[in-house]
Amino acid sequence: MRLENKKAIVTGGAGGIGRATSLALAAEGASVAVVDLNAEAAEAVAAEIREAGGTAVAIAADVASEPDIERVVASTVAEFGGVDVVFNNAGIIRRTTAVETTVEEWDRVFGVNVRSIFLMCKHVVPIMEAAGGGSIVNTGSGWGLKGGGQAISYCASKGAVVNMTRALAIDHGPAGIRVNSVNPGDVNTGMLSDEARQLGQDPAAFLAEAADRPLRRMGQPSEIAQAVVWLASDDSSYVTGSALVVDGGGIA
Ligand code: NAI
Repeated sequence: MRLENKKAIVTGGAGGIGRATSLALAAEGASVAVVDLNAEAAEAVAAEIREAGGTAVAIAADVASEPDIERVVASTVAEFGGVDVVFNNAGIIRRTTAVETTVEEWDRVFGVNVRSIFLMCKHVVPIMEAAGGGSIVNTGSGWGLKGGGQAISYCASKGAVVNMTRALAIDHGPAGIRVNSVNPGDVNTGMLSDEARQLGQDPAAFLAEAADRPLRRMGQPSEIAQAVVWLASDDSSYVTGSALVVDGGGIA
């Protein structure tokens, strides 16, 4: 068990990559606070962890809201006695060009994908500092490292996640806090079907195109989860500020 006695927060923990990572962190011994807008689905993931013999709570929250993030951090500390690992993973996508994107959509994408990470770090870093360190993993994307079509706000937000991660690593490394981003390629989650819907494309054709990469398939949420477990654990003790790409060779 690589995360025995560790206390973790996972945002967007009710779905896709967040759910798989909540389960994987718990399987390595971590207590997990499953945070999501979708209260019912978050509770189902927490219940699944508890049924498997692990420790988990569900917390309903909007990661773009500072009062919600403060409540998430305070509840986790009250429940588990600290926070050692944070997976800032909640994210949304809008498949639109600059011309098509409204200011409200732009702000919401940045609120959920970027402000959320700033807010979580603002409130969790002092707790990690006092405990002597921790590991923060932020979900970027292949589209945070290169551009993509009809996703202006998403590409801009994920580029921000990747570089914010480096800035956080520089500021908080001396306190023993490691901060890395994990950058998935297309992973088989609800987000991909949502994209097909937004673009008015046939979901099967969209998914087939997503598999067009050197490994000739999409990723599974559990494959991203294992990368996050590694970044969360002491196995990656000298890794900070990095942008780990987990994409079947897509960026290559
Ligand atoms: P998903 O849509 O399956 O799950 C996202 C979860 O985040 C959902 O449970 C949703 O309820 C929650 N969420 C959304 N807005 C929230 C908010 N304001 N507050 C709290 N929770 C919120 O998506 P998926 O694919 O698991 O995405 C997870 C992360 O991975 C995202 O940051 C996404 O941008 C990133 N990503 C996904 C890729 C993919 O191909 N699926 C590729 C690259 C990056």
